This record gives sequence, C-alpha cells and structure tokens, in this order.
Amino acid sequence: MRSIPSALVPCGRAATAIPEMMSLGMVDRGARISRRGDFRAVPLLPGNERRAEEMGFEVVMEDAHEIERRTPQEIIADRLSGLPPEIKELLPWKWEFVGDIAIIRMDRACDPCKDLIGRVYADVLGVSTVCVDRGGVAGEFRRPDVEVIHGDRTESVRLENGILYAMDVAEVMFASGNVAERRRMGEMDCKGETVVDMFAGIGYFTLPIAKYSGAERVIACEKNPDSYRFLLRNIELNGVGDRVIPVHGDNRDLVGEHLADRVIMGYVQRTSDFLPKAISLLRAGGIVHYHDTFYVHEHRERIARALDKACGPVPYEILEIREVKSFAPLISHYVAEVRIG
Ligand SMILES: C[S@@+](CC[C@H](N)C(=O)[O-])C[C@H]1O[C@@H](n2cnc3c(N)ncnc32)[C@H](O)[C@@H]1O
Repeated sequence: MRSIPSALVPCGRAATAIPEMMSLGMVDRGARISRRGDFRAVPLLPGNERRAEEMGFEVVMEDAHEIERRTPQEIIADRLSGLPPEIKELLPWKWEFVGDIAIIRMDRACDPCKDLIGRVYADVLGVSTVCVDRGGVAGEFRRPDVEVIHGDRTESVRLENGILYAMDVAEVMFASGNVAERRRMGEMDCKGETVVDMFAGIGYFTLPIAKYSGAERVIACEKNPDSYRFLLRNIELNGVGDRVIPVHGDNRDLVGEHLADRVIMGYVQRTSDFLPKAISLLRAGGIVHYHDTFYVHEHRERIARALDKACGPVPYEILEIREVKSFAPLISHYVAEVRIG
C-alpha cells in the first residue's frame, strides 16, 4: 500500500470543509477518507498540501486505501455486475456533484435495486449522499423532484467559477446546464450599474454579477422562501452583502420605476408575462436579459413578437441572442439581450 498526503480535518469541521475541498478539486476521489481519532484523513491530489495547510489543516502521510486506476464507471459496472441485465443497461453513467452529494438520473425500472445502487455509487464516487433527479423542476417555485437513495444530508455547497452556492438539492433547483450563462454573467462589464435580478433563486446570476461585473448594486428578488433563505446565506458566503439587496416576494410587487440599468429575467416558459414589469423597472436605454424556451426554428420571431407586445410604441434593439441549453427535442432555452427605449 502506498502513502499519500492527507489533510487532517477535525470531525466538527468535516461537514463543511470536506465538500468545500471537493468542490475546489483538492480531494483524491480514488482514495478513501478515513477516520483518525477526532479527525477525518482526507486524501489530497498532488500539489494541494499547501492549500490544505492554509485552510488550517495538518497534512500527514497516510496509507491510501483502495486506490483505483479504473474510471468510476468501470468500478461501478464491476461492483454491480451481479444485477439483472435489464437493470444494468439502465444504470446512469454520468452525475453531477453538489459538494459531497452526487445527483444521478435513473430509470424507475432500477428502483428494486436502488439501495444497493445508492450504496455503490456513494462508495465509488466518494460522496455521503446519492440523489436521483426524478424529472426536473415543477411549479412556480421550480421545486425539484429528488429522491435520496443513499445517505440523508441533502444540503451542501457547490463551488463554480469561484462562487460558493449553498443549497439543499431536495428543496431548490440547480440547472447545471446554465453554467456557461452563469459564467457569462460574471464576465459582463456592469461598472456602476444598478441590476435587478427578477428571479434570483439562490443567487444563480446575482452572485457572479455582484462578485465580478463591477455592478454597484444588485436587487435580487425571490419569492420561494426556501430559495430566499439560501440566497441570504450565499450573499454572506460570497462576501457581497454590500452590493446585493435581497427582496423576498413577488417581483411584480417591486416598488419603483426606471431605476435599473439592467434587468435579468432568469425564468423560462412564462417569462413574457413579466416583460411589462421588467420594462417599467428599466431606465431609458437599459438592457433586459429575456430568457425563455422556444422551438429552435422559430425562436427569433417568437422573441420579436413577445417584445413587440410588451414594448408597444417604445423602441427596442435586440443586441444578442444566445442559446443557453437544449431543453427538449427541437426546443432550446434562449436568452435575448435587448436595449429598451
Ligand atoms: C428557474 S429559477 C432560476 C433559475 C436560474 N436562473 C438558473 O440559472 O438556474 C426561477 C426562480 O424564480 C422564482 N420566482 C418565480 N416566480 C417569481 C416571481 N413572480 N417573483 C420572484 N421570484 C419568482 C422561483 O421561485 C425560482 O426560484
């Protein structure tokens, strides 16, 4: 057995520090996290020793348990080789991580074996919880349909583009497909701007804008109390409390007119209903980021039609249309950046 550097994380800090270290890509997921008295010995990938010490952990050499050279998919296939063939062929081969939680999509036909599947995925992927995403998000609050098949902790922290997103994956949605758009929000130059995020969620767009774009203030409105709780926590976690004004409630009740240089409408499927409110919030010449889903072949006409209806005699100019992600066969999620007035 070979030795690898391992960070000694006090058990009391393990629940927050280990997911953070995983998100930062410091942890060698091919080796086991073991117990050492009141500490967890977290195996480190090469080059992370100093970083672990800077986080306040002693780094020691530990025996590496069960280092695997095969891919996780190969190990899972091997460990579950005894399952009936009709179940094996439905096993998921990709997953998302939110800290030390893995989220998979799995056919219901696998349900009779879900305990074993959950245990094996948790073990191989080195996570404490495995959740099955049963089918996207539902309703106005975009609540996810998630079933825990291993472990019990559904709250964790995801690190993405230098932003920490704390969330409970069983309570609030996280659209992994929107990653490029979240990154783009941080790359915009919004120096001195007032930005309104009408559908802030846990801070998907608010946080990169507040942290990186130079915006003077971001008014982040969210109606779902569970998402709002995490929005408050994420504002604090990311140190942007001086720039973000969180508002709990329906964005149609936001007070004031012509106050924003930019309005973000990160919501799909009913977004055009909210365009009149977005336009009333904008200063003349301000920009709205209008998200929605459209059939691929007609998205330009549909976007123009929604804007014609909402703007009336007010002129507008479509600056850019981007495809955020594919949504369903022949349907994509688009965002149009539009200058109004
Ligand atoms: C689809 S999520 C945000 C998705 C996000 N843009 C992303 O990249 O993943 C939309 C959020 O808008 C909130 N919401 C829906 N209607 C609202 C309203 N009228 N006012 C404020 N928030 C609302 C929902 O609760 C949900 O958290």
